[in-house]
Amino acid sequence: MGDGGILELGAPALAPRSSAPRHVALIMDGNGRWAAARGLPRFEGHRRGVDALRKTVRAAIEFGIDYLTVYSFSVENWSRPPEEVQSLLALLHRFIRNDLAELQANNVRVKVIGEREGLAPEISALLLEAEQTTEANTGLTLVVAFNYGARQEITAAARALAEEVAAGRLRPQDIDTEAIARRLDTADIPDPDLIIRTSGEQRLSNFMLWQAAYAELLFVPVHWPDFSRADFEAAIDDYAQRDRRFGGLAPGDCRAKTAS
Ligand code: IPE
Ligand code: IPE
Ligand code: MG
Repeated sequence: MGDGGILELGAPALAPRSSAPRHVALIMDGNGRWAAARGLPRFEGHRRGVDALRKTVRAAIEFGIDYLTVYSFSVENWSRPPEEVQSLLALLHRFIRNDLAELQANNVRVKVIGEREGLAPEISALLLEAEQTTEANTGLTLVVAFNYGARQEITAAARALAEEVAAGRLRPQDIDTEAIARRLDTADIPDPDLIIRTSGEQRLSNFMLWQAAYAELLFVPVHWPDFSRADFEAAIDDYAQRDRRFGGLAPGDCRAKTAS
């Protein structure tokens, strides 16, 4: 700090160097392939995926992460065979039933994002129960993306804005990026710093398209049931090496420029 006026002026424009991610989002992919590789039914992969999720939540608490988002079921996942959809819903049910007490004991706040309308009443009630039981907790926020699709989320925000304009409560010129962000399911959640996708696939599959604008992406060649604490730690170490520029300049670049 403070080695000259020019640098002082330049300082606020510098992107912060990344260290620990505040918000990590996980695309938990590869359960089916994990099972197929072992000659097991896909369901078994999903079941083991829940074990991996439980361990990952514990690790996130230990690592001091503020927000952990997990993509558990996409709007497109309804197109899978009904038996598989049923088994995924049953696992969600079991996870909340069995793990809510531990989450509560660990001061975890659960928040669910995704479309709630049209869900079976017992699923909606369960999601609401998880949120309400833990809403006063102040530790890790576990964001469960269930029946989630980013395009659907953005579309709903656009519709909400249109309704407000039509009702005369909002002027079109007041619609800015903040106005849109405030109408997304993630309104009170910071953007993810790091998005990890397991299984080796390199795509977002309709996940957090708006919020991912400046997220660091990491694709790991491990199927989700095998994702370990060590893999998680390695992902966080990888993140710490990244230069996040947000369209600005890295600190080194800025110094080079002001020196010439
Ligand atoms: C992720 O594993 C779980 C969900 C999408 C619900 P997959 O079921 O997609 O596993 P693969 O990709 O077929 O291996
Ligand atoms: C994304 O995985 C959804 C979840 C992890 C819940 P998919 O397996 O559904 O994505 P695609 O079909 O490979 O893109
Ligand atoms: Mg998949």
